[in-house]
Amino acid sequence: MAASPASSATETSPDNSAAPAVQIRHLNYFFGTGELRKQVLFDINLDLPRGQIVIMTGPSGSGKTTLLTLIGALRTVHAGSLQVLGQELMGLSSRKLVGVRRNIGFIFQAHNLFESLTAAQNVEMAVELQPQFHAKRTQATEILGQLGLDNRVDYKPESLSGGQKQRVAIARALVNQPPLILADEPTAALDKKSGRDVVTLMQKLAKEDNRTILMVTHDNRILDVADRIINLVDGYIESDETLDTFNTTHDPKNLDQQMFIL
Ligand SMILES: Nc1ncnc2c1ncn2[C@@H]1O[C@H](COP(=O)(O)OP(=O)(O)OP(=O)(O)O)[C@@H](O)[C@H]1O
Ligand SMILES: [Mg+2]
Repeated sequence: MAASPASSATETSPDNSAAPAVQIRHLNYFFGTGELRKQVLFDINLDLPRGQIVIMTGPSGSGKTTLLTLIGALRTVHAGSLQVLGQELMGLSSRKLVGVRRNIGFIFQAHNLFESLTAAQNVEMAVELQPQFHAKRTQATEILGQLGLDNRVDYKPESLSGGQKQRVAIARALVNQPPLILADEPTAALDKKSGRDVVTLMQKLAKEDNRTILMVTHDNRILDVADRIINLVDGYIESDETLDTFNTTHDPKNLDQQMFIL
């Protein structure tokens, strides 16, 4: 995961770039065992093609983070099929799951920055396949610049605001140009302008570099960047629509009650 520096001893699983970024069939997921066993995802079927930016939304507790962490190879698949970048995750060893994770950029709300390192060093830690210090530094400062942090590269997290820390975490997730980016509420800690900058950058990555982005959000101000909007309710995919269909089928006046119940 982007939170810790990747171990160079671990193999990266190959990205079969002809395959869809994500293909899910009949995925079920449970927490707990015995009497406490509780199903949280029900018969999920989902395809995410390359280059799409997909927003997943739905009420609190509906299973969004659980689904995101399954796709991110951070949990073991129990039942069904889940293919990520052409690799089946069902039945995969934990060592191989680590290899899959190295092709994925994660942006989670708990940003887990190293407190003793500066913003630039936190991003440099994640730069792979680039042995030269100066090149790492350039890559790190470039991406920080794109996120509006040019003048904060030498600051440590304790001297950054919540939104700035979140942007350093975003820079770290994007710096290796992963083909798949998973984001859980990436704009929650950001003001309107920074939130918009972040999603504009994501949209650019999807469109210009053919990356696939799956983003969980309750922020209805950013829905317009999506190619598709998926609504997850009580562990079921309740709707999966293009932005245009979504806009015509959902009355904006009722949107908050329907989709953003907290
Ligand atoms: N580690 C866990 N052990 C047991 N139950 C869990 C665990 N993590 C989540 N759950 C339960 O699984 C369900 C789905 O949780 P999840 O975190 O995926 O929801 P979410 O849609 O991301 O919600 P939110 O919008 O509040 O982040 C919830 O009922 C939650 O209580
Ligand atoms: Mg969640």
